[in-house]
Amino acid sequence: MPVITSIEDLKTLHRSRTPRMFYDYAESGSYTEQTFRENTSDFARIRLRQKVAVDMSNRSTTSDMIGLPVSMPVGLAPVGLTGMQHADGEILAAKAAEKFGVPFTLSTMSICSIEDVAAHVTKPFMFQLYVMKDQEFLENVIERAKAAGCSAMVLTLDLQILGQRHKDLKNGLSAPPKLTLPTMLNLATKWRWCMAMAQTKRRTFGNIVGHAKGVGDISSLQSWTAEQFDDRLDWEKVAKIRDMWGGKLILKGILDPEDARIAADFGADAIVVSNHGGRQLDGALSSIRMLPHIVQAVGDQVEIHMDSGIRSGQDVLKALALGAHGTWIGRAFIHGLGAMGEAGVTKALEVIRSELDTTMALCGERDVRNIGGHNVMLPDGFL
Ligand code: FNR
Repeated sequence: MPVITSIEDLKTLHRSRTPRMFYDYAESGSYTEQTFRENTSDFARIRLRQKVAVDMSNRSTTSDMIGLPVSMPVGLAPVGLTGMQHADGEILAAKAAEKFGVPFTLSTMSICSIEDVAAHVTKPFMFQLYVMKDQEFLENVIERAKAAGCSAMVLTLDLQILGQRHKDLKNGLSAPPKLTLPTMLNLATKWRWCMAMAQTKRRTFGNIVGHAKGVGDISSLQSWTAEQFDDRLDWEKVAKIRDMWGGKLILKGILDPEDARIAADFGADAIVVSNHGGRQLDGALSSIRMLPHIVQAVGDQVEIHMDSGIRSGQDVLKALALGAHGTWIGRAFIHGLGAMGEAGVTKALEVIRSELDTTMALCGERDVRNIGGHNVMLPDGFL
């Protein structure tokens, strides 16, 4: 077993152990991937301020997110097809998150269903909703999330239409994978994945197949999304969904201060500043660059979270310093899952917490809740 010291190590292992079409699905952005790249490179432009001779004993990374205590302010973002990166992926990730004391969010596009996950954890998790045209499905899935006791609904607003990812089309991405000659050759080298998958019946979208009308095998994610997702979603519909749900509501995919103002006036419990990990509007600015503008616009009105580009505890500290109350990770935990299942997700969280803790200490901060603008220096033109 290789020694894992960083998310990058988990990524390397993920790549070697998971079929190509699923690794590529995770590790790509839309079109030219400019936004995908800048999500990480912009974090690297922010520099940290070193502080010395400060008592660094009794440090704490504990905080809260949407009113619940967390061992560090880092949640697992909703990631579709998680159960294809590793058999029972959503269940394993939810279990790892629960044991670590951080929130887990189940995607509408998950392989394991809401009920599958609920049966394996003891604490509530969050459910992420994509708005589909099929009204009956929409009402039904909201009821299922309520019945499973989900703690909040995360309504994703930045994917009414799918940003194209070239690799997914070229790889013929589908769940389960179509058996073409290239996929068969690739699967032959991924024996761990094949063995793990052979042990589970969960190989296609558990929240959707058998629940939404006219959905059998989802053979092309791209065309299926175009058919099913509601491209008419507007604030009026968002209000209807809020009323149908009735619980805590998090609006995800806010990148513009004007939208943030609408979301705050709307009464959302939290917003997630996000560009979907660079998978939607290619050419948009990175989330970390937009974050300060959104904090300035609505920071005193609504809890602000951010994701897109976080690959380390240093990144988490930088996001908190620029005003995020909480952060979410997508690929960082998916690399762990694809590399080593539940142990890999735990490893990803351990790596990030250890980096956050050490970085806090070197910045002269004992309590994660005191991190602020004084901990960072921004390059010219960043804002
Ligand atoms: C996502 N994301 C996402 N978001 C969402 O609301 N519902 C979903 O089903 C998915 N699916 C999905 C699949 C994959 C493979 C990735 C990488 C991302 C976006 C996700 O919630 C989050 O916004 C980003 O992953 C954050 O960026 P990083 O941490 O991956 O850089």
